[in-house]
Parts: sequence; C-alpha cells; structure tokens
Amino acid sequence: MAILVTGGAGYIGSHTVVELQNADYDVVVLDNLSNSSEKSLKRVERITGKPVPFYRADILDKAALDRVFEKENITAVIHFAGLKAVQESVRKPWEYYNNNITGTLTLIQSMREHGVKNIIFSSSATVYGTPAQVPVTEETPKGACTNPYGWTKSMLEQILQDIQYADREWNVILLRYFNPIGAHKSGLIGEDPSGIPNNLMPYITQVAVGKREELGVFGDDYPTPDGTCIRDYVHVMDLAAGHVKALKKIEENAGLCIYNLGTGKGSSVLEVIHSFEEATGIRIPYSVKPRREGDVPENYANVEKAYRELGWKAQCPGLKEMCADSWRWQSQNPNGYGE
Ligand code: NAD
Ligand code: UFG
Repeated sequence: MAILVTGGAGYIGSHTVVELQNADYDVVVLDNLSNSSEKSLKRVERITGKPVPFYRADILDKAALDRVFEKENITAVIHFAGLKAVQESVRKPWEYYNNNITGTLTLIQSMREHGVKNIIFSSSATVYGTPAQVPVTEETPKGACTNPYGWTKSMLEQILQDIQYADREWNVILLRYFNPIGAHKSGLIGEDPSGIPNNLMPYITQVAVGKREELGVFGDDYPTPDGTCIRDYVHVMDLAAGHVKALKKIEENAGLCIYNLGTGKGSSVLEVIHSFEEATGIRIPYSVKPRREGDVPENYANVEKAYRELGWKAQCPGLKEMCADSWRWQSQNPNGYGE
C-alpha cells in the first residue's frame, strides 16, 4: 500500500514526502521534473534514511500513469503536479489549462480505472479572489481569479467536487494553501525557483545571497497599516504535516472536505523583510515599485476548521523562524539544486 505523490520532487511535494515517510507511509513519487530536480528526492532520502521510488513521467501521459498504478499498490494520491507561475500563466494560458486541467483529468481517469478514489489536491488561497472580508473561512465565496493559473485551481476544485458528488466512493480533500515559505531544518531541501523568482521569500533570499541586487516592493499605497500587501505565510513543514492529517481524514472515508492551510495571521511585505533582517542579520535593500497587477491587498486564513476536523495547526512559532529556515536552505545551496 503506497501513496502516490505527483509533483513530489517540487518544493511542497519534497517536504511532504519527508513527513509521509516519517509517518511510516510508503511513498511513490511521479514528476516530469519540468520545475524540479531529482536531487531533491536524493536529499529526502538522506533526511529520512528511506528510499524514494521515483517515476519520471508526465500526468498528461495516460499510459505512463497506468503503468504506475499497475505496478504499485496505490491507495491514495496527493496531487501537487502542476504549473504555478502566475505571470507566466497570463502569457501561456493554453499551456496552463492543458497541463493543470487536462493533466488532472488524465490522472483521475487512470485512478478510477485502477479503483483508486482517494485524492488530496493542492488548491490555493487564490480561489478566494479579492475577499470582501478577512480572515477567509472555507465558506467565504470563491471569487473571480485574476489569472489563468488561479482559474485552473478554481476549476479543478469544481471538477473534483462534481466527481465526488457523482460517485460517493471518492474521497476528495481540497487543501487551500496560503503562502508557503521556509524549508526543512536540515537545509537540504527548499524552494528552488527557475529564473527570476516570482514570490517574495525566494526573491529575498536571492538578494541576501547576492544573486539579486535589490528587492522591488510592489506597492506601498494599499489600504493596510504600512501600505504593503498582507499575506498568511505558513511554514512548508507545517503544510507538509497538514497532508499527513488529510490522509488520516481520507482513511475515515470523509467524502468531500475543504480546508484552509495557513497560520491565521497576516503579515505585510515590510514585516517579512524586517523579520528576515532580524533573523539573519542581513540587510535587504529594497525600493518601492508600482503595484503588481492582480495582487489582492489582504488575504489571510481562518484556520479553525482544519484544527477542528483534522487536528492540524501550524506549529512554527513565527515569521522570524520561517525566514531563518528559508535562509539556511539558500545559504547552504546558493544555486539551489544546480551546480
Ligand atoms: P513546484 O513547481 O515546486 O512543484 C510542482 C511539481 O510538479 C514540480 O516538481 C514539477 O516538475 C511538477 N509538474 C508540473 N507539471 C507536471 C506534469 N505535467 N507532470 C508531472 N509533473 C509535473 O511547486 P510547489 O510550490 O511545490 O507547488 C505544489 C502545488 O501546490 C502546485 O499544484 C501549486 O499550484 C500548489 N500551490 C503552491 C503554492 C505556492 O505558493 N508554492 C500556493 C498554493 C498552491
Ligand atoms: N512581492 C513583492 N516583491 C516581489 C515579490 C512579491 O513585493 O518581488 C509582494 C507581492 O506583491 C505580494 C506579496 O509580496 O504582496 C506576496 O507575493 P507572492 O508572489 O510571494 O505571493 P502571492 O500571495 O501573490 O501568491 C502566492 C502564490 C500563488 C498562490 C497564492 C495564494 O504565488 O501561486 O500565493 O495566496 F495562488
């Protein structure tokens, strides 16, 4: 009996594989390595002391998926595989809809042909669009997304809900991640974006390590206390632990469940910069730039449901510790998994 982790070589996937193996689950990883390196899995093996069976394959490749389900005794799928760069999705909508939606439909087809009807899906806080009120609960209405990436998450949530409604043998858990940062304490695995980072934390760590000159802060005239946007930054190891809890929920035949995974606390861009500086003693030069298209001023989670129903709560004490962990990874691996 094993858990298939699609996209398991990526940032959140590799950390989740560590937590799964630590919880004694057998894990099989499938990834096409389009945005990751197999080295992450070698590092996972160093951390857990257990082998990570790996298939280099694409979720669009039905025959390859079928081979995995035929060979391995898969009981549930944790589905991370997907393209996730917001701006790129605006330029390449077809690629995003095809990879994320057709890919997931292909995965689901292979799953049901092999009698596997348990899935945990990586959704995102982006499905709330611009929330009218924060913190958002799972009952907060979904909103209009501002980019094709966001729509793939919103549409896939709907598709998975409809599939579960039509066939109650399915267990579907939609996890809406807020903003994952941090890295495993060992500094062996972490976030390794290709090209110029889109997200705040990898940009900050690349400035700190000397790869970028300064950070651009996208707007300081938002209706927030310091004028910069507020997000709910959550440690990636806490997110990983949330998947283990979600698997337990699936084992109870939970049907359809939706959970926010965040800390419940919002932090501004300037607060993140200052926390990083305090945690590391490194100054981050920055200048204020125009607002980034599509950014919402404020989004953070109400996380009571995940606590009530999964017994999950973020354990990391705060931003400073998350920054320290991101920095340990970046400073020990200035070029990520590259040479
Ligand atoms: P990541 O890019 O590091 O990991 C995704 C993995 O999927 C990569 O290893 C990539 O090679 C693989 N992949 C992509 N397309 C594939 C395909 N067609 N077939 C097989 N493998 C494929 O990203 P991440 O940050 O670890 O995100 C994991 C999931 O969580 C994604 O679905 C992402 O959209 C979602 N998510 C991420 C965030 C975030 O801020 N990181 C926030 C909300 C949701
Ligand atoms: N920011 C900067 N400068 C940068 C990068 C980001 O000021 O160089 C700001 C952004 O404007 C935003 C905040 O930092 O205010 C956080 O930005 P990120 O790009 O790190 O995160 P987002 O909240 O925009 O988006 C992330 C993921 C999405 C996901 C979303 C869910 O990238 O995939 O969280 O909330 F959908």
